[in-house]
Amino acid sequence: MKDPSTRFLVIHFFLELKSKPGSTPKPPSILGDFRERSLFTQLLQGLVRYDRLLEEEIKRRLLRNKKLQKSVSAILKLGIFELLFMEKIPARASLHQAGWLSERFRVKAAKPMINGILRKLLEELDQGYDPKMTHSFEIYHSFPSWMLERWKTQYGEHQALELCQFSNQFQGVHLLLHDPEKQNLVLNEFSDLSFAYEPHAVIPRMFVLHDGKGFIKTKAFQKGWISVIDPSSVLFMLWAAPFFQGKVLDVCAAPGGKSLMIAALGKVDSLYLNDVSRHRIKRIQENIQRTGISPSAILQSDGEKLPFDKHHFDTVLIDAPCSSTGTIQKNPDIKWTASEKTLLKHLELQRQLLDEGARILKPGGTLIYSTCSLEEEENQNQVESFLARHTGFFMKKRPSDSAFFELDDWTNEDHSFFQILTGSKWGGFFGAAISCDHA
Ligand SMILES: C[S@@+](CC[C@H](N)C(=O)[O-])C[C@H]1O[C@@H](n2cnc3c(N)ncnc32)[C@H](O)[C@@H]1O
Repeated sequence: MKDPSTRFLVIHFFLELKSKPGSTPKPPSILGDFRERSLFTQLLQGLVRYDRLLEEEIKRRLLRNKKLQKSVSAILKLGIFELLFMEKIPARASLHQAGWLSERFRVKAAKPMINGILRKLLEELDQGYDPKMTHSFEIYHSFPSWMLERWKTQYGEHQALELCQFSNQFQGVHLLLHDPEKQNLVLNEFSDLSFAYEPHAVIPRMFVLHDGKGFIKTKAFQKGWISVIDPSSVLFMLWAAPFFQGKVLDVCAAPGGKSLMIAALGKVDSLYLNDVSRHRIKRIQENIQRTGISPSAILQSDGEKLPFDKHHFDTVLIDAPCSSTGTIQKNPDIKWTASEKTLLKHLELQRQLLDEGARILKPGGTLIYSTCSLEEEENQNQVESFLARHTGFFMKKRPSDSAFFELDDWTNEDHSFFQILTGSKWGGFFGAAISCDHA
């Protein structure tokens, strides 16, 4: 790729995602400059996040139901997204770039039409056009109708609409400081590099970088003093901390975010890390090298058939593969890659992982189950169905925590599980601790 501009790459990757749906890629290494990398992420994620709205915005401005070439449609979407959502980019720059892109993508003949549509939108915006007032809620917020309906059934209309709105908000990059003694060094480095950041509103030792540019190259990250960790996972691990003890197995450990937090508790006797994916285990190894934690072993095996005798571990964590609907803020592609049919494709695997976890758990030990899903079938229902299958197992109650009282609010009183929904400061997360009677 010769002379790739940021927008050229955005369109290139967007077209790839359209032909082969998958997760939104990180900026390619060819983009070296921090600002360009950050712009790449904002634009590509924006296109994916608002795809349905952008499609409708094009449709209502096209004469007759004209079918556009894919690259023409993508260039138009990018222009419309910038005009609607990127206040800091001057409109004339967006228009100029759209014209330039039509040349680069060899659709020069469409240049006048692209220019015309963008100019028309600009005029309408100047006259007070508000897409929020024009489109239905699900089109403006760009959610598949079936997903919104699903959330309405589970959470009621008001909460479901809020979930869509919060799921569209980019939350910044969340960094957790592992060692409180390094706080001054880390924050001094952030100040020297003029990073815009703030402490997380609720989580101690967590910092939110506004656009995340450049932190990977900081000494703080390279030395393993900070890691990127989702705030919802941290909250869950704060909630689950009292349950970790003795010999611990993290069954679905990669890339190792929760393993790092288990190690940081400093109270377990040994820690075994497992994952089925060799490729993802490499990411555990990178994290371990960077942060210097030393697990007892790292295994690559199928969590449905673990190479351990029964009654082997005091604590077993199953951070299960799931629909990940609690992470749409960071992974907007889930809205389009999942379908009503495939959303719950991991149910049987989750069930098997739980059954296998129960087999290797010592009597009196704790089986901890978690997902980043908002779907009750993967959460409460999965745990309840486990309890119905296994006599002698029960939900463990967490001792209330006077130091961090919010955790009590997120514990469901009747069933004693942990649940937070996607909000302004974190994504959605579910977890439960299960124990069995002494044999
Ligand atoms: C939600 S992610 C785990 C995130 C990780 N616990 C963390 O905090 O960084 C789920 C993981 O389950 C792994 N996985 C999927 N199927 C599995 C199986 N049958 N056995 C073990 N691990 C599996 C995936 O490779 C993926 O790494």
